[in-house]
Amino acid sequence: MTDHIVTTTADGVLQVRMNRPEKRNALSLPMYTAMTEALEGARQDSAVRVIVITGTEGCFTSGNDVTDFLANPPSGGDSPVIRFLQTLIATEKPVIAAVNGLAVGIGVTMLLHCDLAYAAEIATFQLPFVNLGLVPEAASSMLLPRMAGYHRAAEMLLLGDRFDAQTALAAGLVNSVHPESALADVVKQKAAALAAKPPASIRLTKALLKREIESVPARMAEEGKYFGQQLKSAEVREAVEAFMQRRKPDFSRFA
Ligand code: COA
Repeated sequence: MTDHIVTTTADGVLQVRMNRPEKRNALSLPMYTAMTEALEGARQDSAVRVIVITGTEGCFTSGNDVTDFLANPPSGGDSPVIRFLQTLIATEKPVIAAVNGLAVGIGVTMLLHCDLAYAAEIATFQLPFVNLGLVPEAASSMLLPRMAGYHRAAEMLLLGDRFDAQTALAAGLVNSVHPESALADVVKQKAAALAAKPPASIRLTKALLKREIESVPARMAEEGKYFGQQLKSAEVREAVEAFMQRRKPDFSRFA
């Protein structure tokens, strides 16, 4: 148990707050474990539709706790950091990152595994792996070039300099940038919008988005399978009935 991760659930949204401001929200092993447990809990809880990961005022996270890291180097798939990343990657529900300030190391690489990311104007980003004699983690050496283009990714990962929110936006790391005071509201609105959508449709769409590159016919066949399955679903019936009756659809009874 740790007080450094604070979770709250309201209106279908689980918020996971990294809350260790005196250490710039550096992630200790118990914090990784607490975040993993929060994600696993969300998987089993049909009342949770969306997960929001955020930090404290002016700070998302300064990344791995470097002292913890040296004392307990992660080894194998069972280490808390790897378990956290694997759980985040396997999370079927949508995950939104609210990057309300400084984001270093895994504070940036975890964004590659979130579905939406919004940043405060004051946010800064850094991938200092090489500066620390390390190499990229969380498949960022593959996903970042794909997202940002090779040269931009190489600049971020080889030079390891700090960059600003507009650079993160141009690289595709975040969806949009907002005044610090507006960020929480923007994220709340996006989370509420996602929470109101048909959940099976959201889960299947996320799974399709996250699939590796395959041939166009293979992907079409896969989409067709889910499309046909959803066509017969109560979610679609509710969407069409609501359209015909000129009312807002209500997907709240679906899991
Ligand atoms: N791990 C452990 N402790 C950390 C930390 C980290 N990743 N980041 C910050 N801290 C601690 C500092 O040691 C300091 O502790 P102290 O008050 O007991 O001395 C406290 O948090 C505040 O940090 P400070 O450096 O004074 O704050 P700052 O606002 O001037 O700078 C950073 C913030 C994040 C830029 C700077 O702390 C930093 O570069 N941290 C290391 C980031 C890093 O390398 N992460 C690992 C990536 S793999």
